[in-house]
Amino acid sequence: MTDSHHPPVGIDALALACPKAFIAMDTLAEARGVPSAKYTQGLGQEKMAIASPVEDTVTLATAAARRALETFDVDPQSIGTLIVGTETGVDHSKPVAVYVHELLGLPERCRTFETKHACYGASAGLTTSLDWIASGRARGQKALVIAADIASYGLNTPGEPTQGAGAVAMVIGEHPRLLRIHPNTIGDYTRQVMDFWRPLYSKYALADGHYSIECYLEALAGARAAALDGGDEVFDELLACLYHVPFVKMAHKAHRKELECVHHRPFDLDTADDQARFDASYQRLVAPWLSLNAQVGNIYTGSLYLALMDLIRQSQASWADRRVSLFSYGSGCGATYMLGQIAPSAHQWAGHCDPQADLDQRRRLSVGEYEAMIAAFERAERAEKLDPSDWGVLEGLAYVGTQDHQRQYRWLGRDALTPAV
Ligand code: HMG
Repeated sequence: MTDSHHPPVGIDALALACPKAFIAMDTLAEARGVPSAKYTQGLGQEKMAIASPVEDTVTLATAAARRALETFDVDPQSIGTLIVGTETGVDHSKPVAVYVHELLGLPERCRTFETKHACYGASAGLTTSLDWIASGRARGQKALVIAADIASYGLNTPGEPTQGAGAVAMVIGEHPRLLRIHPNTIGDYTRQVMDFWRPLYSKYALADGHYSIECYLEALAGARAAALDGGDEVFDELLACLYHVPFVKMAHKAHRKELECVHHRPFDLDTADDQARFDASYQRLVAPWLSLNAQVGNIYTGSLYLALMDLIRQSQASWADRRVSLFSYGSGCGATYMLGQIAPSAHQWAGHCDPQADLDQRRRLSVGEYEAMIAAFERAERAEKLDPSDWGVLEGLAYVGTQDHQRQYRWLGRDALTPAV
């Protein structure tokens, strides 16, 4: 899989930014009159990140990108492409990416744009960046790809327990420190389906939930076949299978589909043999990397890369060159299946990829506070002036209101002293 004529390309830096508040799934279940086991076991979720009115896709994307550049000591002047994948942008015309570009002080000599295809947007950005580097057009520069979203389905809807918010930033370059991605093992899939969408007039996503699960699984089979082209034997070498994770239990369903593709037969989890075989594979290849998703919820474009962060934060020296599969799904639908290879230096960066301390410091919301936060978030884009301290946001970047139809952002606390990376 290595190509001696081209240097390896892939993910060189990785960082998460998350809202500073969450609601616990058992708290939400109690308020909705649902057994908490439905959310915690049936969907597999523990917590859901909730954005306050002063946090939006721009603040999350910028915070994640800044962290990736600083933590991995990447020179902002080396960024030649900046792509933000999002389905929850802040403007019908102006891309989130251009706000991020200014807020990070990136060079003017940079191609900057936003990609949208439901949860698939950032993966489109990632593969575009890999192609940009492989074509030679990058001329030694790196790409910054950010997956940033706030997933909202509305109160009392079936989708409500599958919300979340956050951004994952990735630096893409040659000789990556974390994960190599091989262009000849990337497979794509597209089909027009109405499984999940958000009309221009709606703040909330509409979903045909159970159908969306079917569409996801069909796309997995299709993109996987396109990527591997019958080379199923690679499955036996995998260290991990990473999936798009709208809720943790979806990765369970995805892995069952994956095994069905590998073995060319249905897996019947009601029979002891298939159950035992499935469980062993799931516990080894999938379950260990789902803790961040369980604590954050669906972050749409970033969900797959959250699972990747969970893998990298646990990486060990012995994992060097081991292969992992990555499946990205965006409703509507578009999908990509790819194979990556753990970079030999990944374990040295494991601690730099661990957002657990930040997640542990988040504020736990009551249902009343959660509902008030959602209502205030809805009104925020028309608010002229917002005070971040009202929402417990004292550091980092905040959205502080819209004046003359222009969104305003401010760095707070110690971040105000050093606005650009
Ligand atoms: P629902 O109908 O409320 O839930 O909606 P359910 O009845 O299907 O139950 C969910 C699970 O909980 C089931 O497990 C139940 O058995 C179990 P399963 O059979 O599927 O394994 N359950 C319980 N378990 C333990 N104790 C109990 C109990 N009761 C039930 N007491 C649904 C669930 C996911 C459909 C809904 O939340 C929804 O519509 N979510 C949004 C759509 C979605 O996330 N789709 C995923 C695939 S599409 C995708 O990933 C793209 C997406 O990220 C968007 C994008 O691309 O931008 C969404």
